[in-house]
Amino acid sequence: MAKDIYIGEIISNKEIQKEYFLMKVSLNESFNDPEPGQFIMIRIAGLGDPFLSRPISIYSFNRGKSSCSIELLYRVVGKGTQIMAGLIKGSQVAIQGPLGANFEILPTKKNIVFIAGGIGIAPLSLLAEHICRKKCMSEDAMTFYLGSQSADAIVGLDKLQKLCYKINICTDDGSLGAKSLVTQAFQKDIKKFSPADTVIYACGPKAMIKTLSKILDGTKFSCQVSLEERMACGTGACMGCAVAIRDNKGALTYKRVCSDGPVFNIKDVIWE
Ligand SMILES: Cc1cc2nc3c(=O)[nH]c(=O)nc-3n(C[C@H](O)[C@H](O)[C@H](O)COP(=O)(O)OP(=O)(O)OC[C@H]3O[C@@H](n4cnc5c(N)ncnc54)[C@H](O)[C@@H]3O)c2cc1C
Ligand code: FES
Repeated sequence: MAKDIYIGEIISNKEIQKEYFLMKVSLNESFNDPEPGQFIMIRIAGLGDPFLSRPISIYSFNRGKSSCSIELLYRVVGKGTQIMAGLIKGSQVAIQGPLGANFEILPTKKNIVFIAGGIGIAPLSLLAEHICRKKCMSEDAMTFYLGSQSADAIVGLDKLQKLCYKINICTDDGSLGAKSLVTQAFQKDIKKFSPADTVIYACGPKAMIKTLSKILDGTKFSCQVSLEERMACGTGACMGCAVAIRDNKGALTYKRVCSDGPVFNIKDVIWE
């Protein structure tokens, strides 16, 4: 479904780590409060190249008296994010959102496990903040597994440490935390969590989600994942982001990551 496009003004856009930026954008008060897991499509106001907007998760949201602001945590990987990184205070961006389906909070579960790979921390951080703010679960109930290639690529830890006591950091090269894949670290601990009392939320590279799906196969854990796909329209119109999903009868169907997701039940995702 099409959503209004807002012209936002950049309040700040800082490189917090090599290739990683935190952008704060002020928006008109009519921008809806986002739910955790939702994202926006962003492009430079008035710029025709790149032609398509880029999807970025909402990392944080604040509502003031007559305006609101969002923060985006992003990694520079190509043309669109390179242009974003060059924007200065006062620049204007066109933002469409909040878009997509959010993570569902399950207050009946005693444990919440977050598994984030790299920039996957962005939507999970908003979710952890939301859970803390709503006080629907104690901070003790939350365990965060955060992985990346190296210490240079661990971002968002300062905010996370204010929300969550139990943070397990893993890096591929051992430069911070355990030298392990984040999925291996979770697998090592899996017996600490009872499937009936635990909900898992995950976001990260496809390989990480695929491995997690194998680990959880045959278990009774409930796990919601946010998938990343290249997007064109971002609003469900082009099918450019379709992924194979099992419907409730077990049959293969195609769902749009932008409008049916990005959050899906991991057990429904079909991996080729
Ligand atoms: C729902 C959603 C939320 C996202 N949230 C964030 C976020 O909070 N922070 C962040 O840094 N990134 C996020 N991404 C990924 C981000 O959209 C891409 O990195 C961005 O579109 C790349 O644009 P570009 O023009 O810089 O790179 P391009 O020149 O378009 O591509 C450069 C490289 O990145 C790969 N790539 C491009 N888009 C994606 C994608 N969607 N998924 C995986 N690989 C991609 C390409 O295959 C290519 O290898 C999100 C993606 C989705 C779908
Ligand atoms: S990007 Fe067009 S339908 Fe999802």
